[in-house]
Amino acid sequence: MATAEQIKSLIRSHYSEDKERFFTIALQVAAHEAKQGHIALAHDIRAIVDKVRKKDRPKVIPFPQNLHGLVFTEEAETPQSAIVLTFSVNRRIDRVIHEYRQQNKLKSHGLSHRRKLLLIGPPGTGKTMTARVLARELRLPLHTIQVDRLVTKFMGETSAKLRQIFDLVQQEHGIYLFDEFDAIGSERSMYNDVGEMRRVLNAFLQFIEQDTSDSLIVAATNEPKLLDHALFRRFDDVLYYEAPQAENRKRLIENVLGTFLGARFSWKKVLSESKGLSYAEIDQACRDAIKNAILNDKNKVNALQLIEAVKERRGAYQGR
Ligand SMILES: Nc1ncnc2c1ncn2[C@@H]1O[C@H](COP(=O)(O)OP(=O)(O)OP(=O)(O)O)[C@@H](O)[C@H]1O
Ligand SMILES: [Mg+2]
Repeated sequence: MATAEQIKSLIRSHYSEDKERFFTIALQVAAHEAKQGHIALAHDIRAIVDKVRKKDRPKVIPFPQNLHGLVFTEEAETPQSAIVLTFSVNRRIDRVIHEYRQQNKLKSHGLSHRRKLLLIGPPGTGKTMTARVLARELRLPLHTIQVDRLVTKFMGETSAKLRQIFDLVQQEHGIYLFDEFDAIGSERSMYNDVGEMRRVLNAFLQFIEQDTSDSLIVAATNEPKLLDHALFRRFDDVLYYEAPQAENRKRLIENVLGTFLGARFSWKKVLSESKGLSYAEIDQACRDAIKNAILNDKNKVNALQLIEAVKERRGAYQGR
């Protein structure tokens, strides 16, 4: 029989709704039983846990045919430890995760968890990556809606398509990333008529406002130009992304180089050479340097080699 401690822990984890903890304890009970020679019972307990866990995994949804090519679904694998952010953005992401996990507690007080997020910042600073991190942390499927495609492909029909997408948000629990959603307001949208553009934007805002699902809605944009107060009001939180300062450039390089980080790495020059680059560009430079090392049968990257890769990235970026 399971020990009294294990039974108490099982009950506690059940009521705290910490599923992972519950599974861990159930597996401990199985191990305990196996040790006592109760092999069949141990096997049964493991089989039950496996079955329930499988059911819990996000399923990939077959989208309605007419949304094909507009909504892209993935099971994200990006761990939170891979993303480097400012203290303030990090704290906000932690809060979203925490509130989501404790949503029942909030609901019992008539409150809802933060689930409509606006991410603003230049390219390559981690907006899309944030949606992936949230999806993995919350074990939800990530559905990305490429808003620029929606707007160019379905001119005149954009609002109707948006409605279909928001129906899905209601029906299928998940994270919905409206990527490059400023496209609604840009010249790329091909809406010559400013009135029409406004209408689409207003429809989008209304859908967001009316949404009462438990899904997370994340809108990401480079261009806060068109975003007025009416829009900010619709979101539970606004996160500002920026190119990394020296401290975060260092953390990113350490993360990406990992065991390839050379001994006595001279940070000063690396940090000054990488100034002004985005996270994405520095990430690429690190990967370029690792590839070079591997191809030269080396298992370390030194500062000079990374600077070389950084310079090349910077050159590519500036078209030199
Ligand atoms: N804050 C970050 N920490 C760690 N890696 C990052 C970060 N930001 C970007 N990267 C790296 O760069 C890649 C591209 O970043 P991401 O797609 O998140 O940028 P974005 O902000 O969405 O840019 P865009 O505005 O162009 O869509 C990521 O997959 C990751 O490898
Ligand atoms: Mg992006």
